Order: sequence, then C-alpha cells, then structure tokens
Amino acid sequence: MRLRSTLTASAVLAAAVLVLAGNAAVAAPARHEAEASPAVCTGTIDSNHAGFSGSGFCNADNAVGAAAQFTVSASTAGTATLGVRFANGTTTARPADVLVNGVRATGANFAGTGAWTTWVTLTLTVPVNSGGNTIRFSPTTAGGLPNIDYLDVEVTGGAVGGNGQPTDQNIQYYGRWNRSNASWYAMGWAGGYLDARFTGSSIGVRQRNAIDLYYSIDGAPLQWRRNVSGNVTLATGLPGGSHTVRIGYRERAGSYTGDPVFGGLVLAGGAQTAPVGRPTNFVEFIGDSITVGQPNANRPFTAYPWLVAEALGAGHSQVAQGGACLVSQDCYGMMDWFRRSSGSATYDDWNFSTYQATAVVINLGTNDIGHGVSTAQFQQGYLVMLERVRQAYPDAQIFAMGVFRNRYVPETRNAVAARTAAGDSRVHFVDTAGWIDPAVDTTDNVHPTDAGHAKIAQRLRPILDQYI
Ligand code: GCU
Ligand code: CA
Repeated sequence: MRLRSTLTASAVLAAAVLVLAGNAAVAAPARHEAEASPAVCTGTIDSNHAGFSGSGFCNADNAVGAAAQFTVSASTAGTATLGVRFANGTTTARPADVLVNGVRATGANFAGTGAWTTWVTLTLTVPVNSGGNTIRFSPTTAGGLPNIDYLDVEVTGGAVGGNGQPTDQNIQYYGRWNRSNASWYAMGWAGGYLDARFTGSSIGVRQRNAIDLYYSIDGAPLQWRRNVSGNVTLATGLPGGSHTVRIGYRERAGSYTGDPVFGGLVLAGGAQTAPVGRPTNFVEFIGDSITVGQPNANRPFTAYPWLVAEALGAGHSQVAQGGACLVSQDCYGMMDWFRRSSGSATYDDWNFSTYQATAVVINLGTNDIGHGVSTAQFQQGYLVMLERVRQAYPDAQIFAMGVFRNRYVPETRNAVAARTAAGDSRVHFVDTAGWIDPAVDTTDNVHPTDAGHAKIAQRLRPILDQYI
C-alpha cells in the first residue's frame, strides 16, 4: 500500500508538473480594448450598450472602410489567433476585410447577435510579424462594422517554413500582382517586387518566358539579369543561416514584351522560406513615364518613387505607364486606369483591399496637353481622381504634385483646394517649381536623368515624412 501511494503521489506530481509546463508554454492572450490608444476607431467610442469590457467600445461609422484598428505586438513571427468581441444588433451580417500590416489576411463575417447588448467573440487566425503589427477590420459593405469591444491576440504557431511557390505565405508582394494563376503571379504596371527570407546556400527564381529581372540578396545593391528564362540561379555558395532576396521585373510596356511573372523561388535541397518583415507604410505612386523611370536603364529603382519610399523605410509601387494622362481622351487616363491591375486589364479589376496605401503620390498632367485636354476638363478630372483615390484608400495621405513641365499646375492646385474645402484634410498640393533644371537634370526636357530623379527624391522625401 505504501509503495503504491508513493507511486500515486509521484504520478500526481508528474502530472502537475506537466500541467504547469503546458500552461507556461501557452501565454494568455493579450487583450486590446478598442477604446484605448493606439487603437483607432473611425467613428465614436460609445458606452451606451451594456456588457462591454473596459470603458467603452468602437461604434464605427456605417460605411465601407470605416475601420477599427489595433496595434499588437508578437514576440515571434507566426500565426496568431484573434478573438474579436463584437455586438451586431441588426439581423444583417456585417462583413469586413482583416488587414495585417495593411495587407488583407482574411475576411470576418460579423453575424447579427440579436441585440446591441449581446456581445460575442469571433475567432480568426492570421499571420503576424515579430514585433509590432497593425490589425485592421475594414468593412466591405455600407452597413459598416458591428460595435467592437476588444481584440484578444495570442501567437499560437511558430514561423512555418514555406516552399517558395508563388502562393507561399512567407513571400511579401508589393504593387499590383495578378494572382489568378497560382503558378505564375504576374506583375502589373511598373516597380512591383517581392521580398522573401530563405535558408540554404543557393537561391534562384523560376521564369516562364524571357524577361529582364533585377534582384538583391541580403540588401546588396540591386542588379540586373537581362533576358533570362527558365530556372535562373541568382546566388550560390551563401553562408549558413537565413538570407533575404528581393526580385522585381522590367515593366511590360511599349515595344518591350518581356514576361514579368514570378514562378516561385528555386531553393536548395531541404531549404525553406521563413517570414520576412513588411513595413507598415506603403506609398503608391501614380503617374506616367517619369514615375516609371523611363527611359533610364535602371528604372524603376533609380526613379524618384523608389528612392523616396526606400529612404522612408516604406513599401512602394509605381502604378504608371509611359505616355499616360490624367484624362482618358485617346490616352491611358490614370483617373480611370489606376483602378486596374495593369495597363492590359480590360476592366476595373483591382481589389483595393489587397493592400492599403498609407500615402498616394500623383504626378499627372505632362501628357494631357498632347491630347487636347482643356484646363477645365483637367481640373474636373483631377477632382474626380482625388475622390476616387480617397474611396480606394480611406486613410491615405494623398499628394498631388505639380508636374515638372509646369502644365495644369493651377488646376492641380485648385482640385486639391476643392477637396480640402469639402472636408478632406489629408490631401496636399506639392509645389515642385524649381526642383529640377530641365537643361541639366533631364535627357530631353521631360525625362529626368538618374541624378535628376535623385534631386526630386531629396525634395519629396521630407514632405512625405511629415505625414507618414
Ligand atoms: C445603433 C446602435 C449603435 C450601432 C449602430 C449601427 O445606432 O445604437 O451602437 O453602432 O446602430 O447600426 O452601427
Ligand atoms: Ca456603428
């Protein structure tokens, strides 16, 4: 008996130790109240429906994009389980996109809960970076969000090694990528790129047809591989540990018919991808050849958009096309075309919840003159463009640059003033007079040299820096 009870006691003790160890391994979820800064609520913090935790809840405006956003921190990159507590006193579900660091990770469907005082918790899983992350609930219908009480966050899975395929969640894409073909992700417009972290001593990329690509390993200066196809080796003999790679493509436009598609990373045997950081700021540049960086050899990455965003530590895209205008009058009018995934899309196919820009910089008006666009037409078109950009990116700081050739500059300024007067406090006119000397800083009075782009970047960067 004595022996037996001793055994039993130690077995109980062992079980207790195991339970303790189990508890210690799973940290309690961290609670983030919707009413507490740095959480953001596009609406009001209310306390009129009982049952909430803390001192109130977020009653977001009933509108598409009127969001509740939380800032959460994770000790490691991996999968987080979210518990979002909400009440929806209507009988209609309120769907929303869930954006992690500005990129749509999943959707949330906030069903009716029967009463505004009936609070329930919806559970979701999303990937998170190590360190700070923003988690944003952005409603997709005019009903807006339900009332949101808090967000519980618990990192429940460590970093998962990926296989380097285009669908690999560890790969971070920037810009307009058409992902409808899981084997070949197609870069639209210009300046799209991707970042990844990988293990193993070599790295390559799979290409479909000939393309000029540029890449960087571990943050080294970008370099070109021109006219390559098939499995393209980018580096061998890398030291142990993990490395980062960035890959981008020359834009398909004009007479250049390269194939800017990403077919996956070619990893060394047994190697994997791992999560890589993504900046919280993203700057989208909308424009013409100047924004692409044409005709310079290293466009897009010696063009001012790339230089400015990199200097600010932000992600970026160049939604731009040589010859583009603001107005679609026998021209790619970007006031319409910016809603597309590329210059060859046949309808407004871009889904703006794929990512949200924190800043949008517009540089348009150089080419409209050649298509007979009147000043009145231009101003009206610019106003519509600013409204559309606001609709696409509800929270972005929007910058309208006077074009370097001094065309339609008063109209650009007037359109911004009209939006400001209409209550949009995040739209800014950028006066570029004197930034470059066409005789010195351009190749043909229009297109800046690389040094000209660097001058522009130096002027634009501090302006954006005030706002993002
Ligand atoms: C009611 C309710 C609010 C809620 C709103 C809505 O006004 O009192 O708390 O946010 O409906 O429909 O969003
Ligand atoms: Ca509401």
